[in-house]
Amino acid sequence: MPGETMETIFDMETVALDDEDSALLILDQTQLPGRREILRLKDQKSIWDAIYLLQVRGAPAIGVSAAFGIYLAAKEINETDFDAFYTKFEAARDYLDSARPTAVNLSWALRRMDGVVRANKEKPIEEIKKLLLREANEIKAEDIRVCRAIGENGLALLKPGMGLLTHCNAGQLATAKYGTATAPMYLGQERGYGFHVFCDETRPLLQGARLTAFELTQAGIDTTLICDNMAPSVMKQGWVDAVFVGCDRVAENGDTANKIGTSYVALAAKRFKIPFYVCAPTSTIDMSCKTGGDIHIELRSAEEVTEMWYEKRMAPEGVKVYNPAFDVTDAEFITAIITEHGVAYPPYDASLKEIFERKAKA
Ligand code: MRU
Repeated sequence: MPGETMETIFDMETVALDDEDSALLILDQTQLPGRREILRLKDQKSIWDAIYLLQVRGAPAIGVSAAFGIYLAAKEINETDFDAFYTKFEAARDYLDSARPTAVNLSWALRRMDGVVRANKEKPIEEIKKLLLREANEIKAEDIRVCRAIGENGLALLKPGMGLLTHCNAGQLATAKYGTATAPMYLGQERGYGFHVFCDETRPLLQGARLTAFELTQAGIDTTLICDNMAPSVMKQGWVDAVFVGCDRVAENGDTANKIGTSYVALAAKRFKIPFYVCAPTSTIDMSCKTGGDIHIELRSAEEVTEMWYEKRMAPEGVKVYNPAFDVTDAEFITAIITEHGVAYPPYDASLKEIFERKAKA
């Protein structure tokens, strides 16, 4: 059965609601790979914190968490009058939306949930709450279908035995299932492609070492962990046939924000004539951003750089730190953008438009 092997990547889901639909359950990614701890989050503040602290992270997983989060917030609103309900709903929506700025899936999911409320304003509040739950579940189910389709579209570009390289974690942990950049790897694994994957450790927070290396090895994929500064050397030796990365926001012209360091991998790939693929659910493509210059890049705390995963200081006290969480890879370095509705090639303003037209017809 397609997907059977994928079911066994983890015996736990990245994001889920509990059986009573009263709490958000997330696998705490800050504890991986050492400990598998499920957090049970009920209130807006704890969900906001979990997103900000990267206990749940990765653009699609953040979107799914926010959808469940706003449903849980709406459930607690005791107003029966629509306007009074909506005022409180909007406040919760804006609060959750402020947790992280770069991954567009956060505001995308909240906008979708908001649309459900506004479209049903004539209905009783209890009915609206049920519709919100249904929409949040659909956002999650859709993410699973979308990732799988990205996997198929990505795999079609590959041949058995290839060496692949990925940066950060655009894996199952970053989505409801399968991942985006990892989906072709998992499908390839099911079908005996025998890929070898190089996994950048991804400083400062080591999503590659802690999460991607963990996921891929759990799935039995031949994986080698490298430090970020080793990617060009590995490429030069001819070990990488293609690079697959995820994204947090793609602009209309194809410029793509992803984890800091992605643009440096793209530059190296260009130098060694290695195809550089961005795997992007259409929920991560923001046609209202004209170029990468319009994308808000999150700046995070200095301690993420000065202390190794918050445990041991390794830089002198008082040193100045610059810590952007993401960078923008210019469209000219991107070979193609792989979506659930097909593969977009340059020029991206035209090809991404076509992808959305295809989506509208689907
Ligand atoms: O700061 P993070 O860990 O949330 O950054 C995640 C990434 O950059 C991922 O590559 C991106 O969100 C795509 S996830 C499918």
